[in-house]
Amino acid sequence: MKSKASAPGKIILFGEHFVVYGVKAIVAAINKRVTVTSSKTNERQILVNSVFGEDSFSIDADIDVKSPLKPIVFLAKKMIDEFGHNGGLVIDVESEIPVGVGLGSSSATCVAAAASISNLFAKFSKEDILNLAIEAERTIFADTSGADCTVCTFGGIIEYQKEREFERIKANPRLNLVIINSHKAHSTNTVVNHVRVFKDKHVKEFEKICKMESELIERVKETLKEDGSISSIGGLMKENQRYLKEIGVSNKELDDIIEDANSVTCGSKITGAGGGGCIISVTEFEDSLSKFSDKSYDYFLAKIDFDGLITF
Ligand code: PMV
Repeated sequence: MKSKASAPGKIILFGEHFVVYGVKAIVAAINKRVTVTSSKTNERQILVNSVFGEDSFSIDADIDVKSPLKPIVFLAKKMIDEFGHNGGLVIDVESEIPVGVGLGSSSATCVAAAASISNLFAKFSKEDILNLAIEAERTIFADTSGADCTVCTFGGIIEYQKEREFERIKANPRLNLVIINSHKAHSTNTVVNHVRVFKDKHVKEFEKICKMESELIERVKETLKEDGSISSIGGLMKENQRYLKEIGVSNKELDDIIEDANSVTCGSKITGAGGGGCIISVTEFEDSLSKFSDKSYDYFLAKIDFDGLITF
């Protein structure tokens, strides 16, 4: 028997970095997915096929699995042990989500793998699968808030604030999103540390920007709930980008991409940590992208995903 599950990636629509200091962030699932297919075998090994190649792990040896496969092997071992399975598993991972650019490929993999593997053994609720996925993701990102796995499980848009429950935003904006990969490598930790240094040096200024970002987030929520126009959302994105720029997480390359994107879309911003990674734009007309054709940008169109985790 094969068990198949797929989960969407994510973008941070608004509020990255400020969320570290207690401001709300708005995160959305996108219609680019990771699909995981698992089946039981009689051999005592876990075999994983993924974009990183094929790798196998003995169930009985105590080996230290390196990320990015660590969460998958963790989930496989956990289920094998819990249900006393005498054999092993074969796990195939297919992904439409670029890896390591802040689009939630790791969280989507954890959610899809948690569902696909656990369904081989018993029926688990979405909440149980989410908890399994967060546990798995913590094997590589100890401090994950769980926001990414939450949105990958339930889809749609969520509001997230530190030390509070996640809240789903009941809105169905038909946003045409353009996601541009800057191909500039970035490290979330490094950029988060830069922001901490900025905050410590410019205490009053940082407080003021956080307050403006909080007010912006409230306007975003209203706009989303009222099914506001794409141009209003774009304007709010431009405003968010100004605050991100003020705290130093943008740079010349990203600013240039954003300026180009703004000339053909309603508004753009960094999504995620910045320093590199991806830019998101919103556009009324999907064909406005043809104006990008003379640029060497690596971009794709996306929509908000409202399905979340799907099992087959
Ligand atoms: O790069 P990503 O998509 O993992 O996003 C990081 C988001 C930050 O707000 C910069 C950090 C955080 O932990 O929330």
